[in-house]
Amino acid sequence: MQEIADAMTTADLWKMMRRRVPPIVSEYFRGGADTETTLRGNVRAFQQSMTTAYGALKFSSLDTRTTTVGHDLAIPWFITPVGSLRTLYPMGDAVASRVAGEFGTVMAQSTLSGTPMEDVAAASKDQCWYQLYLCGGRDTALRSIERARNAGFTALILTMDTGVSGLRILHAKMKPMQSMGPFRGLSFGQKIVKAFRKLALAPQMLSCLPWLIDYYRDGGLMEFVNIIDDDGEPMPYTDIGTQLAASAVTWDDLTWIKEAWGDKPLIVKGVHCAYDARKAEEMGASGVIWSNHGGRQQDRVPPVLHIVAQEMPLVGDTQLDFMMDGGIRNGTDILIALSYGLKAVGIGRVTAAGIGAGGHTGLTRAFEILHEDLDRAMRLVGVQSVEEIRSRGAEIRRESLLQGDDHLPPFVF
Ligand SMILES: Cc1cc2nc3c(=O)[nH]c(=O)nc-3n(C[C@H](O)[C@H](O)[C@H](O)COP(=O)(O)O)c2cc1C
Repeated sequence: MQEIADAMTTADLWKMMRRRVPPIVSEYFRGGADTETTLRGNVRAFQQSMTTAYGALKFSSLDTRTTTVGHDLAIPWFITPVGSLRTLYPMGDAVASRVAGEFGTVMAQSTLSGTPMEDVAAASKDQCWYQLYLCGGRDTALRSIERARNAGFTALILTMDTGVSGLRILHAKMKPMQSMGPFRGLSFGQKIVKAFRKLALAPQMLSCLPWLIDYYRDGGLMEFVNIIDDDGEPMPYTDIGTQLAASAVTWDDLTWIKEAWGDKPLIVKGVHCAYDARKAEEMGASGVIWSNHGGRQQDRVPPVLHIVAQEMPLVGDTQLDFMMDGGIRNGTDILIALSYGLKAVGIGRVTAAGIGAGGHTGLTRAFEILHEDLDRAMRLVGVQSVEEIRSRGAEIRRESLLQGDDHLPPFVF
């Protein structure tokens, strides 16, 4: 664990995650859609953004608190939904929820999680969000909503950008679904093919033996335990592609979802334009997350930071709380994002980096790094509170006059 304590950046933790877990697992967390232009763009947009620095200022303390959709957060970031965290670390989602609570923020649990939502809520500090996909259809979703309410989730996120799953080519070539899962129900020929695929994975699994032992101790191949079908059975892991394709959300769905969820906040995630933000508000949402799903859905949509810069001014009069996710890797990224008036930002792959590097210890280190980064950036830029970052906005940012991208750091994740 000394190595984790020595991590200086979230990229250090990402590299540790990639060493600890086999490629067939880490590639799921890394990948973006198609040419990965948007995936890289999310990160590059932050790296290309500049700030000013007001000098000769000294603050005895900083105020990193924020409020979004009625939730008081001690820090201006939250864990945005990331599926299958349990493949990285035993009970990964509950571990993430605990760390978020310890830092005074929230974790949003994905529908595509292998950890019972009750365990995630119990691990939180009384504030946690549940992200809804409509896998399995309306009745299944209604069961999840009721369960989330009873478990004590305090906001519901509806993700609207996953009508079909994006094409993540490298992971698809690894054929994870064809290699995993039981032999039950397969013809003799299919069983032979599957057996060979499993055998081919042996070298990468054995080279990550500590992970493999953890994985089997935690129950092996996970099921989607929060997606319960009409017969009371959890959805098998390998059904996900088909199920996502059958679960596209439409604006009409918001009506029954809002009704079933009740008065607690509803957040719409995956918004790219002011029109959709206004529509979400009309349909009863109290928050919006600007997001391109970490570059995993439609490739060649703009980086989220550019969406925020272009669309926030167009929304007009609104009561919505705005958040974003996509490309956040350090504290200066958070500061720049907030300077556009956002209430908070979400971290996706940084969560995977921390959990994958070493569960609670790894994610705690990721949070410490972001915290130290943000603290340092606020002092160096000369802003004392999140509120000040939000309100001074353009005064803090600077246009870059550098040409080309030679000055940018190598892309890690
Ligand atoms: C491995 C992985 C799984 C994800 N699973 C979900 C999910 O189940 N539901 C969802 O709304 N978004 C999901 N997302 C998208 C994230 O919520 C978020 O939009 C994205 O990760 C932000 O970009 P970042 O990874 O650069 O922080 C996933 C992202 C990753 C990387």
